[in-house]
Amino acid sequence: MKIAVLRETADAEHRVAATPETVKKLLGLGVAAIAVESGAGAGASISDAAYSDAGATTGDRASVLADADLILGVQGPAAADLPGAKSGAMLAAILAPFADRARIDGYAGAGLTALAMEFMPRITRAQSMDVLSSQSNLAGYKSVIDAAEAYGRAFPMMMTAAGTISAARVFIMGVGVAGLQAIATARRLGALVSATDVRSATKEQIESLGAKAIFVENVKGIEGEGSGGYATEMSDEYKAAQAALVSSHIAKQDIVITTALIPGRPAPRLISDAQIASMRPGSVIVDLAVESGGNVEGSKVGEVVSVHGVKIIGHKNIAGRMAADSSALYARNLFNMINAFWDKDAKTVVFPADDEIGKGITLTQGGKVVHERLTA
Ligand code: NAI
Repeated sequence: MKIAVLRETADAEHRVAATPETVKKLLGLGVAAIAVESGAGAGASISDAAYSDAGATTGDRASVLADADLILGVQGPAAADLPGAKSGAMLAAILAPFADRARIDGYAGAGLTALAMEFMPRITRAQSMDVLSSQSNLAGYKSVIDAAEAYGRAFPMMMTAAGTISAARVFIMGVGVAGLQAIATARRLGALVSATDVRSATKEQIESLGAKAIFVENVKGIEGEGSGGYATEMSDEYKAAQAALVSSHIAKQDIVITTALIPGRPAPRLISDAQIASMRPGSVIVDLAVESGGNVEGSKVGEVVSVHGVKIIGHKNIAGRMAADSSALYARNLFNMINAFWDKDAKTVVFPADDEIGKGITLTQGGKVVHERLTA
């Protein structure tokens, strides 16, 4: 089996789908050849020479793709940008089918087996292959660092001869993987941290990290873990109670980080213009959901805007802003998947029929779109 590793071309994408470490591990597994597109690692501080030293070849896209059985990328390229990719080859990347369905149809038309890494089922066996977790964790960390950088004050309380600086108040909305890491990071920087979510199971997690849980009382949220651990759209009654609760809390916060997502739907709107106006000038809001429609009124994709004297950070691809670490984890997620489905005799990746992981991530096969979420 030959593996091709693409150089990413999307805007603000600095990550790469393989590192010298995973190249060595893949060759150790029995992969016959790995070809890395020249410059693929540049954004993650990995030189072509480092890939060569690990045992890969490097070259232009056409030479890398020639005869490749498995193509690895971070974001899904258009089929037209995969010149010479052979029919039947697998493509594993974050494919975002709901953002661009025509691209997925293009993979089917080209005979590619498209594997959407972000569709990895959230089951114990797949944890080490879960790209949403590995990337959200880093995004949660980076959101706090970005906020600290934009905030004209300090995070920790400081008692100095010239007087005392009070600790920053940080409020995290949405306590999934990113939110939990944001709580931990803000706490480590010395902030007073509070957090909220619609899933009641997160209350204990928030408290165990030393933050204060802010929860809607007397209106039913999501008990237990919800479907697959995810949130759903809430009732109008819940939304109204949440808005009232958040309004009184937000006015006292210096930093707000929002991470709330609902799979397959636009991100819920959590902060209104009026709530922003209630915050002290110089406060900072980071909208991690900005690319999914945004949790914050007025946030803009790829921009930092100032509204009522409050900075709203809407960076694109936050994990990609820490490309060395995010690439290392993403590449390991891919390696772990290849390793788990490696057929020693056939020396290739084989997903057994009806395997939950194979079924969960395969979007196209045999010239057709096959995933149930895309065919229903
Ligand atoms: P996500 O990125 O889909 O959403 C982020 C957070 O926003 C979630 O906690 C969600 O409940 C919350 N949210 C949604 N609507 C909201 C609203 N209106 N107000 C406030 N908060 C709202 O979530 P993520 O990070 O992907 O995690 C989802 C779940 O999956 C978690 O329970 C996590 O522990 C679980 N998980 C399980 C894994 C496994 O078993 N292999 C791996 C990773 C995560």
